[in-house]
Amino acid sequence: MTILQAVEVRKFYGTFCALDGVSLVIGEGEHVSIIGPNGAGKTTLVNVLTGLLPPSAGTVTFKGHDIGRLGPLRLLRLGMARSFQLVNIFPQLSVRETIAIAAISSLGMGGRAFAPLRKNRRVWETVERVAGLFGLAGKLEQPTKSLSQGDKKLLDVASAFALSPEIILLDEPTSGVSTAEKTTIMQVLARAAKETGIKAIIQVEHDMDIVFGYSSRIIAVHNGKILADGSPAMIRARDDVMAIVVGRP
Ligand SMILES: Nc1ncnc2c1ncn2[C@@H]1O[C@H](COP(=O)(O)OP(=O)(O)O)[C@@H](O)[C@H]1O
Ligand SMILES: [Mg+2]
Repeated sequence: MTILQAVEVRKFYGTFCALDGVSLVIGEGEHVSIIGPNGAGKTTLVNVLTGLLPPSAGTVTFKGHDIGRLGPLRLLRLGMARSFQLVNIFPQLSVRETIAIAAISSLGMGGRAFAPLRKNRRVWETVERVAGLFGLAGKLEQPTKSLSQGDKKLLDVASAFALSPEIILLDEPTSGVSTAEKTTIMQVLARAAKETGIKAIIQVEHDMDIVFGYSSRIIAVHNGKILADGSPAMIRARDDVMAIVVGRP
C-alpha cells in the first residue's frame, strides 16, 4: 500500500532548480535510502516530502492527503515524523527533556507550559519506553551536550520515534560518527522500527556499507533528478550511479 507519494515535484531556490521533476512512491514495509553527491538535492527532497518546504510545482501526498494542505501538526497526527537535530538546538536540555519535547508534540500538548507536564504520566512513560529502545535509559538526566556523538545521533532518532510515527524520515542519521557507532545506530533503529510497528523508513545516507546493508530500496539523486530507483542489487549494478555517488570509476 502507498504511504507517501511525490508527483513531478520541482523546488526552486530563487532561480536555482534544486528538485527537477521528482516522482516517487513509498509503500508499506520499505526502508528506502536516498543517496547522491553533495548538493544533489537530498535534504531538499526530505524537506519537501515532510512538508517543511512547499514544492514550487507538483504534489506530495501522505496517506492520500496533500501535505501542503495538512500543516505540520495534522501531518504528525497522521503519523509522519522526521528527525530535527533537537540536540543541537537545545544542548543544555537533558536527554529526558529532549525526548519529552517530541512526546509532548505528538500528544498534542504543545501549547501548555513545560512545568505542569512533569506530572503527566503519558509523556514520561513515552520517554522511558523510547529511551529504553534506544539504549539511553541510563543517561536520561545527562545534558545532551555531554553525550558522545553516537548517543547524540541516537537521541535524534529516538526523538522522532517519540512522535509514535508510522513513517519516519531521517537526514543522515549516521553522519559524523565512527563505523562501530554507525552499526549500533542502524541496529537499534531497525529493532525499534520492528518493535514499534513503523511502516516505512526513508533515510538520507552517505555510507555505502549502511546503504547496502539496511535498505530494501535505494533512490539515487543527482542534480535534482532521480537518477535511479530500485533494489540494492539493481543500484549496485549501475556503474553510472556508483561513479556519481561514490566516485567509483
Ligand atoms: N535555502 C537554500 N537557498 C538556496 N540554495 C539552496 C538552499 N538549500 C539548498 N540549496 C542548494 O540546493 C542544492 C541542493 O541542496 P541540498 O538539498 O541541501 O543537497 P544535499 O542534501 O543533497 O547535499 C545545493 O546546490 C544547495 O546549494
Ligand atoms: Mg543534505
